[in-house]
Amino acid sequence: MARILVTGGTGYIGSHTVVELIQKGYDVVIVDNLSNSNKDMLDGIAAIVGKQPDFEQVDCNDATALADVMNRYADIQAVIHFAASKAVGESVEQPLLYYRNNLMSLVTLLEQMKAHGIQHIVFSSSCTVYGQPSAEHLPVDETAPIQVALSPYGNTKQINEEIIRDEAHANAALHATILRYFNPIGAHPSAMIGELPNGVPNNLLPFVTQTAAGLRQQLRVYGNDYNTPDGSCIRDYIYVVDLARAHVKAVERMLSGQAAEQVEVFNLGTGRGLSVLEIVNTFMQVTGVNVPYEIVGRREGDIEQVWAKPDKANNVLGWKADTPIEEVLLSAWNWEKKLRGIE
Ligand code: UD1
Repeated sequence: MARILVTGGTGYIGSHTVVELIQKGYDVVIVDNLSNSNKDMLDGIAAIVGKQPDFEQVDCNDATALADVMNRYADIQAVIHFAASKAVGESVEQPLLYYRNNLMSLVTLLEQMKAHGIQHIVFSSSCTVYGQPSAEHLPVDETAPIQVALSPYGNTKQINEEIIRDEAHANAALHATILRYFNPIGAHPSAMIGELPNGVPNNLLPFVTQTAAGLRQQLRVYGNDYNTPDGSCIRDYIYVVDLARAHVKAVERMLSGQAAEQVEVFNLGTGRGLSVLEIVNTFMQVTGVNVPYEIVGRREGDIEQVWAKPDKANNVLGWKADTPIEEVLLSAWNWEKKLRGIE
């Protein structure tokens, strides 16, 4: 079976994808600099799949170290590139850090892939490239216009997509799948792996679970005066395990020569939008745990509503995100309880 190099494989989406790849019989080598993840995740992966994946503590900006990994694992057939900085606010404060980390790493990776004859890449992009889609583009499909990025982080995703397209144009051997994620949430049903936010979480679900666990006093709901049914923002929350499985599908499609274009793009979402208040209320219902919250002002840069039209991924990739939201929210809570030792 083919070996897949997974950058950022000890991270949140990366670790879940490594599990799905190994369970499908792939060999994996993880490359991660552990800047925003923990080596313990390897034990979590091993507890699920029965063996430790190969791991190399390497920064994707380090060409020499990447070349060394590719030399030592000569059977790598595809790369899944998760490794990136992803905090929107931090990217506004430290744009150069984001441009260096997120752009240079992809350039270095593509150079080394070419030098080592690796011709397939799956890239983690984001629905952030669509900004706030106009009403006629909701739900969002892959043909919706790309809008000016609202943050350096968002800009790096757009530029990364362009780098891949330009390189594919120049290098006919390269095949790429760009996956635009909506809002990934939840944890593996085993509660052996999950999201490990650094410091105070920016994202909704980790803040909800930490509040439920008593680590945070109350959740702040950013705005209830949006033009949505309950006034809070709407997103397409997708289960991280469903999302991980889409990466396996993308790899299979490229390696079996089924890709219709040299660069294919898929929106990965459920097709259903849920509001912040719906998420919080459903979480309280399914867990039976209270999450105190207050409504505060809008968060700068937030988009009012966005959700996916996942038809292309459903029909072409043969993949569907169908785990019920109740199950997803429970998985997030089970992971938080495990982390905090709550019975
Ligand atoms: C954000 C980024 C997105 C990025 C993703 C990666 C923006 C505009 N978008 O997505 O580009 O790919 O993170 O992690 O920053 N909320 C609260 N209280 C909280 C936290 C969040 O009410 O404490 C609300 C937000 O206002 C939003 C929703 O929950 O409506 C989801 O927020 P979040 O999880 O941060 O994701 P996005 O903002 O959609």
